[in-house]
Amino acid sequence: MNRIFSGMQPTRQLHLGNYLGALRNWVRLQHDYEAIFCVVDMHAITIDHDPEVLRSNIREVAAAYIAAGIDPEKNILFNQSAVAGHAELNWILACHTPLGWLNRMTQFKEKAGKQKDNAVLGLYAYPVLMAADILLYKATHVPVGEDQKQHLELARDIAGAFNRYYKREDYFPLPEPQILGEATRVMSLRDGTKKMSKSDESEYSRINLTDDADTIALKIRKAKTDPEPLPSVVEGLEGRAEAANLVTIYGALSDQTKAQVLADYGGQQFSAFKGALADLAVAKLSPIAGEMNRLLGDRAELDRILQKGAERAGAIAEKTVNEVKDIVGLVRF
Ligand code: TYM
Repeated sequence: MNRIFSGMQPTRQLHLGNYLGALRNWVRLQHDYEAIFCVVDMHAITIDHDPEVLRSNIREVAAAYIAAGIDPEKNILFNQSAVAGHAELNWILACHTPLGWLNRMTQFKEKAGKQKDNAVLGLYAYPVLMAADILLYKATHVPVGEDQKQHLELARDIAGAFNRYYKREDYFPLPEPQILGEATRVMSLRDGTKKMSKSDESEYSRINLTDDADTIALKIRKAKTDPEPLPSVVEGLEGRAEAANLVTIYGALSDQTKAQVLADYGGQQFSAFKGALADLAVAKLSPIAGEMNRLLGDRAELDRILQKGAERAGAIAEKTVNEVKDIVGLVRF
């Protein structure tokens, strides 16, 4: 059996990178797999947060999933903290994760910065909770953007370590990353060498899923470029990170390869291309923002969906936690 698990953190607003690198692929994959989509709210408290903002972000991310096309009836959609098994399995897996493995995680190093001693344990242990998320459902496939590749390799290593330790070679499947499409790593609009990220202090670095048409157009107009016209072939994008990023985004939004985009726009100035890109982005993103607003207007319905999702997820999780407790040698009643 193939089962997908994936999730997003409800920290700030979802952006174009989250959409093109992950969410849009989930929408496409949901028909071919049994799928579980999670709002990973426990991951979101590994960094500074405001409780009121977090509460509203959790519902906003759930609304974004549905607005982008995730069917909450066919798939399981819920928030992580509503299923206790994530925290339970997290602890057990933590007891099978050598510190050396965590020390290699580049995202911790980036997020903790120079203040490593002040960084919290939760931020350091974050990839173990992520492994627990996936293994709790024995997911076989995990669709994510490229930045999650290292965390997924760790999840596979932890699964293997558990299986070997208890001599249960096939207990946890080793989850396969699915890093799909043209835009697996969308870059900042202000700096083509930096990933588009929720935590970038510049609002102009990213397009949020809830930005209105004027804001999208303004951000694209202000996006950093170079003085040369667009090249006619993909090789011409080499060394031109900002140009490559805009062409990648255009390709992903229009379901074309970069080569196809350049066949149409090669030789043109950025001003013309940016106009076309803004129109395309507005056409693709505005309906999602509109639907998100509609869903957020009916909080009771959204909560009903999350609660039902948590019940369905909880049933699968409970079975795994019980099996794991038995394997580990814990006594349950
Ligand atoms: P998060 O919340 O940072 O991002 C959610 C998803 O969006 C992708 N993504 C991007 N893709 C392309 N370009 C970008 N600039 C970009 N920025 C983000 C991410 O790769 C991700 O797929 N640790 C995860 C959340 C998580 C998770 C899990 C994911 C927790 N448990 C279990 C999968 C399975 C994270 O922080 O994603």
